Amino acid sequence: MAVAATGVEGFLHAAGERRVREVIVVLDFGSQYTQLIARRVREAGVYCEIYPYDASADSLRKLGAKALILSGSPASVYAQGAPKPDPRIFDLGVPLLGICYGMGILAELAGGAVAAAQKREYGAAEITIQDTADLFAGFYRGETTRVWMSHGDRLERLPDGWIALARTGNSPLAACADPGRRVFGVQFHPEVVHTVRGRDILHNFLFRICRLEATWTMENFLLEQEKKICDQVGRDRIICALSGGVDSAVTAAIVERAVGDGLTCVFVDNGLLRKGEAEAVCAFFAPRFGRRFRYVDARERFLHALRGLVDPEEKRKAVGRTFIEVFEAEAATIPGIAYLAQGTLYPDVIESVSFRGPSATIKSHHNVGGLPERMRLKLVEPLRELFKDEVRSLGEILGLPPEIVHRQPFPGPGLAIRIIGEVTAERLALEREVDSIVVEEIHAAGLQKLTWQAFAVLLPVKSVGVMGDERTYDNVVAVRVVTSVDGMTADWARLPEDLLARLSNRIINEVPGVNRVVYDISSKPPATIEWE
Ligand code: XMP
Repeated sequence: MAVAATGVEGFLHAAGERRVREVIVVLDFGSQYTQLIARRVREAGVYCEIYPYDASADSLRKLGAKALILSGSPASVYAQGAPKPDPRIFDLGVPLLGICYGMGILAELAGGAVAAAQKREYGAAEITIQDTADLFAGFYRGETTRVWMSHGDRLERLPDGWIALARTGNSPLAACADPGRRVFGVQFHPEVVHTVRGRDILHNFLFRICRLEATWTMENFLLEQEKKICDQVGRDRIICALSGGVDSAVTAAIVERAVGDGLTCVFVDNGLLRKGEAEAVCAFFAPRFGRRFRYVDARERFLHALRGLVDPEEKRKAVGRTFIEVFEAEAATIPGIAYLAQGTLYPDVIESVSFRGPSATIKSHHNVGGLPERMRLKLVEPLRELFKDEVRSLGEILGLPPEIVHRQPFPGPGLAIRIIGEVTAERLALEREVDSIVVEEIHAAGLQKLTWQAFAVLLPVKSVGVMGDERTYDNVVAVRVVTSVDGMTADWARLPEDLLARLSNRIINEVPGVNRVVYDISSKPPATIEWE
C-alpha cells in the first residue's frame, strides 16, 4: 500500500491521491447525545469533531469546517441565558443542521418564534413527511415514520423564507429548512436508533446537501498516523506502557508499525488484572516484540503497597504511585528514550459542555498522565482523535486478539477497588475466581457487547449459610452488571432469572469461601458503577 506523502496534519493520502481531510463540526449545547451525533457522522465515513456551542465563526472558518450540526440541549431556547452560537455562523456559507434545541436556536436567530410546548414530547413519535427535496430525499410525500423526541420547546412561527418539511400531531413544524441557505432543522433526534430512518436523514445531510465524500476509514487513518509518527519520532527511541486494555495495546501496535525497533513496550503486571488478562497481553506482544517487550512482575510490590489500606482513595493513590515507581525504574534501564506513547482518546480531549460528568471529580481516576513531565518525555498520542468503537475497529485491523479488542472498560486501580476493604493475596485470588465466572456466563449468554460492564465485587462481610449439613460462615460477593452509553450514567442490567440463578449456583459451588451472592440493583446516579 502507498504510504502518505505529507506530514501536514489534516491531510491524508488515500489510494495515491492527496486529499484534504474534510471535517464537519458538532456544536455542543450540552445534549446527552452530542458524542453520539459525532459517532454517527464518522460511521458514515465523514470525519467530525465536537466544539463548545460558542466556538467563534472565525475559528470554525479557519478549521475549514464543511458543515455544522447544532446539538440538542437541556436548556430552553426562550429561557434567560440560553446558550447561543455565534450568529455569524450563518455567514460561513456552509450547510447547518440543528437538532432539537439546535433547530430552535437556528430558527430563533433567523427571526422565528419558539415557545414552551403545552405538552412536552418525550419518546417515540410519528412524523409525516411533507417535503422530499433534500433532507428527506428517498422518502415519499405523506410517509409517516417513527422518530425519537425529547423536547419541551416548540417552534411556533418560521422565519421568513423557511419552509416546513415534516410535522407531528403535536407540532406542525417537526422539521424545517431555509433551503436557499442550506439551513435545516429537525425537532427529533436522527442520531438515536429509535429514529427508524435517522441514518437516511443524516446521510442525506452529509452526502446530498453537503456533498461530502466518505473517506474517513480506519485504514486511511492508520496510514496517516504511521507516517505522522514516523516523521515525529524519527530515529529516537519511544516507550509505551501496556496496561492490558485496548487503548494501550492499539497504541503500541500502531507505533510499532511506524517505528519498528525504536519502540519498547513495558507491561507492568500489578497483579490486579482479571483472570487471563496479563497472559493475553504477553501472548500477543512477547513473540512479536522479543526483547523489546519488557514484562515486569510487580505483583508482590503492589500487594505490599496496598497492605493495610481500606480507604478507596488511598488504595487508588497507592496503585498510581507504585506504577510510576516501577515504570520509571524499568525505563531507566533502556537507553535513549525520548518519547512516550499514550492511548489518550478523543472523549478525554473534547472541551465539551456535556461530556464532563460529575464522576470525574467523585473518584480520582488513575492514569499515566504525570509521567511525561516527570520523565521529560515528549508525547505521542495516535488515538487522540478516536472514539472507543473506532479504536476497537483499528485493533481488529491490526490483528489484536478479541480478548483485548472487546474488553469492557476496566478501572486503572483494577481489582483493588473491587475488593472492598483490604487487598490481600487470598482475597485477590477469591475475587478473580468469582469474577471469571461472571465474565464467562455473560459471554455465554451473548451479553458481553450488550452490557457496559459485568464484574464481581468481594465484600468485607461474612454471612452464615448451610452447605450439606454443615454450618458455614463465609464471604458474600456482589455481582454488578450495568448498561450504559458512556459510563456517565448507568442502569443495572435486567438479567434473565435463569442467568442469575446460574451465576449464583456456579459461584457458590465452584469458589470455596463464598456462601452468598447478591445482585446489585442500583443505577448511576445515585450509586456509581464501581463500589469504591
Ligand atoms: P464510576 O464508578 O465512577 O465509574 O461510576 C465510571 C467508569 O470509570 C471507571 N473507573 C475508573 N477508571 N480509574 C479508571 O481508569 C479509576 O480509578 C476508575 N474508577 C472508575 C469505571 O470502571 C467505569 O467504567
